Amino acid sequence: MRNLVGDVSSAARILPELDGEKLFIAAGKGAYLWDEQGRRYIDTALGFGAVLLGHSRPTVLESVSRALHDAAAPSWAHTREHPAATALAQFTGDMRKVMFTNSGSEAVHLASRAARAFTGRRRVAKMAAGFDGWFDEVSFGNVSTPEAAFADGARPFTERTTLLRFNDFEDVERLFEEDHDVAAVIVEPMLANAGCIMAAPGYLRHVQTVAHRHGALVIADEVLMGFRLFAGLTSLREGLSPDIATVGKAIGNGVPVSAVVGRAEVLEGFERGTVLRGGTFSGNPMACAALLATLESLQQSDYESLTTKGDDLRAFIESTFATHGMTVVTCGFGTVFSIWPCAAAPTTYDEANRFASPAFSKALHLALRKAGVLVMPSPYGRIYLSFDHHDGVLQEMKNAFSKAAACLAMVFGSASLPHHAFGSASVG
Ligand SMILES: Cc1ncc(COP(=O)(O)O)c(C=O)c1O
Repeated sequence: MRNLVGDVSSAARILPELDGEKLFIAAGKGAYLWDEQGRRYIDTALGFGAVLLGHSRPTVLESVSRALHDAAAPSWAHTREHPAATALAQFTGDMRKVMFTNSGSEAVHLASRAARAFTGRRRVAKMAAGFDGWFDEVSFGNVSTPEAAFADGARPFTERTTLLRFNDFEDVERLFEEDHDVAAVIVEPMLANAGCIMAAPGYLRHVQTVAHRHGALVIADEVLMGFRLFAGLTSLREGLSPDIATVGKAIGNGVPVSAVVGRAEVLEGFERGTVLRGGTFSGNPMACAALLATLESLQQSDYESLTTKGDDLRAFIESTFATHGMTVVTCGFGTVFSIWPCAAAPTTYDEANRFASPAFSKALHLALRKAGVLVMPSPYGRIYLSFDHHDGVLQEMKNAFSKAAACLAMVFGSASLPHHAFGSASVG
């Protein structure tokens, strides 16, 4: 009997077997991963978006290794924490105060607590089908659940969480008419974990205006999008002025580190010690060291060029499927996008739910895995690129997609694909 529950520690990591074999990764370098048999794959899950510089970037490894040798757990204030906070705050606009945590879920949890403490209200509103972490606080209304679809017609809510329909301008007005106990609305620059549903023009700003008008805060969940499109927060570039933001993933290039950043007055309760925070590992030296080395490299990285290459790959994927008589569309951005087996990308979760084809996504995953490329198997999964996805790697990916398209055309034919859900999907 194996002891590890379901072979993995996070449900997002579950992969189907290929030819009766499970996949266990042994090592990673640059754009590649190697399995226990020594087979090489191009990685597009990249630590679910955490690895933006490429696996095992030497500068990050050296910085983390020095911190590990100096003292992994010094207990008390240490020399790397302030520099890390200063480095991060350069990119976070008016949100100049920083608290470190380890995972995105922890950061969202702490941000929700901050909003409750500041407003004295109980509930946090999140986007239906959005993923803001696995903690009870916001693990409600996730993609593929009945709540995400507002299945019984009414707005689902719990004592501490309520839901909003993404891209529905009126729904946010209705929420605040119905509920006077909303401390904050959590917004994401795009609904990434529901298959990169893009925000409609003006939508995010509308949500912010309505939330602020009703005395609620705005928490920008930048765990996935922060530093992915450029060195900074996407919500700020979208013209938002959030009160709090959560960042994680890309700021540590795969080393666990996340943070809550916020306006000083909003986080003052933590400063005074009236609001609880803790964590044996929060702000640990390795996390700070990873962030310092990663942000330094990201600042010097050519995001524009990587985005252009990603956009070129997206166009190639659409055209190679078209060559085989199949219609697929991509949505998102060059460095993070989803593939949908339909002509137009979903603009709401309702559409995403209807367009999702677990059979297509699983078949695509298996065909690409056979051709040496690892993609997430869920209809709501994403393809990430790193700065180590150089031209040669992208060409290899194109070759693999051509093979996969030919293979899927044989399975599904060139007629329309089965646009119906086959079961639940995992997120990450
Ligand atoms: C937008 C968003 N918020 C929060 C989280 C939770 O982060 P973590 O998995 O590090 O706990 C994720 C993870 O995928 C995410 O995509």
